[in-house]
Amino acid sequence: MLDIKITKNPVPKAKPADESKLGFGKIFSDHMFLMDYTDGRGWHDPRIVPYAPIPMDPATVVFHYAQELFEGMKAYRSVDNVIQLFRPECNAQRMQDSSDRMCIPQVPVEDFVQAVKTLVELEKDWVPHSDGTSLYIRPFVFATDVGLGVHASKHYTFCVICAPSGAYYAEGIDPVRIYVEDEYIRAAPGLTGFTKCGGNYAASIKAGEEAERKGFAQVLWLDGVEKKYVEEVGSMNILFKIDGKIYTAACTGTVLPGVTRRSCIELLRDWGYEVIEGPLAIADVMKAGREGKLEEVFGTGTAAVVSPVKELDWKEDKVFINDGKIGPVTQKLYDTMTGMQWGKIPDTKGWIVPVCKG
Ligand code: COI
Repeated sequence: MLDIKITKNPVPKAKPADESKLGFGKIFSDHMFLMDYTDGRGWHDPRIVPYAPIPMDPATVVFHYAQELFEGMKAYRSVDNVIQLFRPECNAQRMQDSSDRMCIPQVPVEDFVQAVKTLVELEKDWVPHSDGTSLYIRPFVFATDVGLGVHASKHYTFCVICAPSGAYYAEGIDPVRIYVEDEYIRAAPGLTGFTKCGGNYAASIKAGEEAERKGFAQVLWLDGVEKKYVEEVGSMNILFKIDGKIYTAACTGTVLPGVTRRSCIELLRDWGYEVIEGPLAIADVMKAGREGKLEEVFGTGTAAVVSPVKELDWKEDKVFINDGKIGPVTQKLYDTMTGMQWGKIPDTKGWIVPVCKG
């Protein structure tokens, strides 16, 4: 158990007056959690301090070689005014798996969860009240050695910050247009696709910008070897309902193992759907679209929740899904996930972790 030292912000910031204008990740709460790592000593000095810039030497390893990782999770204000988390131990575990690949020392799962819960309890007044809003939580860890040699750092900082947020997409739950990326790739076997390292996102920005300029919300990445099989979307996993069955890429190293993804797959299987995790060729998706068998397409992610897709563009080919409307399975998943998260329906899965009274 961590002994977290708390130093409160003597001049709390004003809370956002209009929750309909929160956007995503633009405003930050009063405090942040910090903990340091030193080789030979382990993690030490867990503390919560006023939210502030972190002064760093220009030669710090993370600026040059990007040895870092992040997580994304949310705290919800339930209809009974309880502040609650969704499967926080899954994020803690995923950060451990990512850490191993990036040669970053692991934060123990129970310490990660304690850090998040303690910060969220302190920031409970920052959890917004309006429908569809939440306190987005961003845990991250980065190398802090100073020097330009390329090797694993001996010092790290683990930090958690919080941002009261609304919907990730401007479209909200309205279906989005997705561009199937045929030039750039996001991941390849042996690389870092399964980790939540910033480098994966940095490498994706160019394709995302080009797609946005053409009016698409995000890109759909194909596998990095043959550019043949669907993998994931910029900030979400992606699932396809074709002729009654649900298909999605398997998490075999190149795809981010999303917490929302695995939760949706569990729900779909509970509801009797066959869910196939494996290779799905983009050509087969487009063919299913032309034959009227591509019934629903949706992304899943912490930030985006469950997000319907209305159009896929691949090379010169386009398919439109469900007449541009959210499909019934997508809607049921959205209602069930958000229902549990906001305490509107019972948590039959044991996924909700209450933190404190709101
Ligand atoms: C999340 O869904 O929490 C993410 O981390 C996506 C993010 C890159 C916006």
